[in-house]
Amino acid sequence: MREFSANSPFTKQISQLLHLPSPIQQIYDELFDAKALKVFVKRDDLIHSEISGNKWRKLKFNLLNASQLGIKSILTFGGAYSNHIYASAAAGKYFDFETIGVIRGDELNENSSSTLRFAAECGMKLHFVSREYYREIRTNPSSHPLIHPFKHSIIIPEGGTNEFALGGVGEMVEEITEQLGFAPDYIICPVGTGGTISGIIAKSDEKTKILGVCVLKNGHYLEQEINHLVEHEIGKTKDNFEILWNEHHGGYAKKTPELIDFIKEFERKHQIKIEPIYSGKMFYAFYESISKMIPPNSTVVLIHTGGIQN
Ligand SMILES: Cc1ncc(COP(=O)(O)O)c(C=O)c1O
Repeated sequence: MREFSANSPFTKQISQLLHLPSPIQQIYDELFDAKALKVFVKRDDLIHSEISGNKWRKLKFNLLNASQLGIKSILTFGGAYSNHIYASAAAGKYFDFETIGVIRGDELNENSSSTLRFAAECGMKLHFVSREYYREIRTNPSSHPLIHPFKHSIIIPEGGTNEFALGGVGEMVEEITEQLGFAPDYIICPVGTGGTISGIIAKSDEKTKILGVCVLKNGHYLEQEINHLVEHEIGKTKDNFEILWNEHHGGYAKKTPELIDFIKEFERKHQIKIEPIYSGKMFYAFYESISKMIPPNSTVVLIHTGGIQN
């Protein structure tokens, strides 16, 4: 990854606006006591109310790169409820970037969801395209005619996962080691596009096992993608990770009554807000199966990747 100055006006702006390092919070439960597990939540959801969680981690070096190149415009992709569109639009507003969002669904408009309304209010220019057209543009954005007028922009893929994303996520791993004073036995995170877990794997200590909870049905193709991203970042693959493929509750954005009940109970018990698409599925998987597999006396860190839009 390219080197970025720690003293640029942009990095100063970051430290003024964002709550970094994000807090790490221990949570308690009889289930953990029975096995003497120490369980922590890395509260990346508290980084900022509008640019939170893994979205900030993945955007950071994309924005620094753009800024260093003197480019003040970013173009990105997403659906009507995309956390990445939401966070990118907010980042544009706070850090003074022009933002362009290519949105999946030509039947939509800026009032179709609170996410799109928020993005438009932040100043993001929204372009609604059909699903087929979206797939075509997303696959090969830089040469697509729709993108030509925005040739001056930095293009960030859907979900924010690219070569710049992993470095930002890696900073979170460094924060965890510093906050605990040692590398944990387990780090657990949700998996969507695979960028977040790849950044964690790339930066983690060999002795830390990384568990990913895949929130998609049939997401097995992600394993290859994760290996590819890790290799690109550190020049080799690593085998200290495992993905759980059957914790998706029916598929992406699908919910089961058990998941909803679990989230209510978790929020009541721990006073931590979670959502059903990513963090809810991860915490559910931890309580229902992972915590039973983990050896006694382990230290576990669960990553709260945010995703709670105002
Ligand atoms: C809130 C939240 N958590 C987790 C993820 C999954 O992260 P990744 O796509 O990097 O696997 C996403 C999607 O990017 C997300 O929006």
